[in-house]
Amino acid sequence: MMNALAVEGLSHNFGGLLALSGVNMHAADGERLVIVGPNGAGKTTLFNIVTGLITPSAGRIRLFDRDVTRLQPFRRARLGLGRTFQITTLFPKLSVMDNVLLAVQGADRARFTLHRPVTAYPHLVQRAERLLDEWGLRDRSAMLTHHLSYGEQRQLELILALAARPRVLLLDEPTAGLSPAETASVATMIRRFPRDVTVLLIEHDMDVALALADRVVVLYQGRVLAEGTQDEMRKDPRVAEIYLGTDDA
Ligand SMILES: Nc1ncnc2c1ncn2[C@@H]1O[C@H](COP(=O)(O)OP(=O)(O)O)[C@@H](O)[C@H]1O
Ligand SMILES: [Mg+2]
Repeated sequence: MMNALAVEGLSHNFGGLLALSGVNMHAADGERLVIVGPNGAGKTTLFNIVTGLITPSAGRIRLFDRDVTRLQPFRRARLGLGRTFQITTLFPKLSVMDNVLLAVQGADRARFTLHRPVTAYPHLVQRAERLLDEWGLRDRSAMLTHHLSYGEQRQLELILALAARPRVLLLDEPTAGLSPAETASVATMIRRFPRDVTVLLIEHDMDVALALADRVVVLYQGRVLAEGTQDEMRKDPRVAEIYLGTDDA
């Protein structure tokens, strides 16, 4: 079967620092791949290279077998690559509905004239309402985004990412800084994502990671240290060493 995403021989230097070194990784179509690893392991750099924000020192990125290593980020997005960031990208002073409308509008292929408001396009409004319904934020529609709880803001970011109808979605620590209850809501939401969306998820919480993953990749000091199924990861002494740690972890 064709891989949704393949990373081949990827290396990257920041000045003298080798942030990634010979990384090979793939995700099958529809797979949920969770990337774990301590701070500084190179996880976000990997996402920045996959999405095209950073040009790698060496290696290739393939999206559905197409070599996209030299494509601009927006072209990769057009091919179905979506992402969320470790820091929020919401418009805080707009309503929840307006944030979703902007995302839906951006994803719509039709052309829009600048002098007509987005609400003049009923199909966009309907799609935004359906997304908010489906993901449980409909009763927050009119609220200003910065009045949402932190967990709800994370959920909204995921809704915005889904609004673009991605085929491959990269999520960078969507549960970072959340309470256990908020983490559970976000994890439940990710588990309910359409199964035809390939998901790569960076997750620092090993329990959340293992609960969501079809397969886990462990990055450590810019290299793939281990990869496998949940069971294999639970038994792997190298993974235990990083996470249960003899010294600081
Ligand atoms: N823009 C940058 N310039 C210089 N060094 C960077 C830059 N971005 C990341 N790094 C370094 O690269 C390494 C990997 O960082 P990062 O990919 O953010 O790790 P992670 O997301 O796994 O915590 C770290 O040592 C970090 O300090
Ligand atoms: Mg990071």
